[in-house]
Amino acid sequence: MMLIRSFLVLAFVSSMAAPAVAAADVKKGEALLTRDCSRCHAVGLTGNSPRPDAPAFRTLATRYPIESLEEALGEGIMSGHPDMPELKYDADDVGAIIDYLKSIQPR
Ligand code: HEC
Repeated sequence: MMLIRSFLVLAFVSSMAAPAVAAADVKKGEALLTRDCSRCHAVGLTGNSPRPDAPAFRTLATRYPIESLEEALGEGIMSGHPDMPELKYDADDVGAIIDYLKSIQPR
């Protein structure tokens, strides 16, 4: 009995290991971008931006490193952004958004 229980605990703990957390982050980043950006930008792996002048997020890495967005997202300043609502994210959200954006760039 004892043995079975410790096996279950172990299985539970290892299911919470790093990869699962990273996947949750990516999902959260996607949700935030869908909520805040998708009325102008194509957020996912396919589709065109609703606003033709707004770049699809999957193409951002062709312009500059994704990391360079980190500061802008945290400070609430996305410069050169017409009609852009002022959005500011906490460090967790910024991390999730960056993880998501990295996950959709073509390799
Ligand atoms: C109201 C429409 C609108 C919303 C909402 C919006 N954007 Fe944009 N975004 C644009 C347009 C239009 C451009 C192209 C601007 C340009 O090139 O001058 C742009 C450009 C960008 C760029 C490229 C900037 C560059 O210098 O190349 C990034 C990155 C970006 N947006 C991120 C975001 C993120 C992240 C969100 C959500 C948090 C968001 N945008 C929400 C309209 C929007």
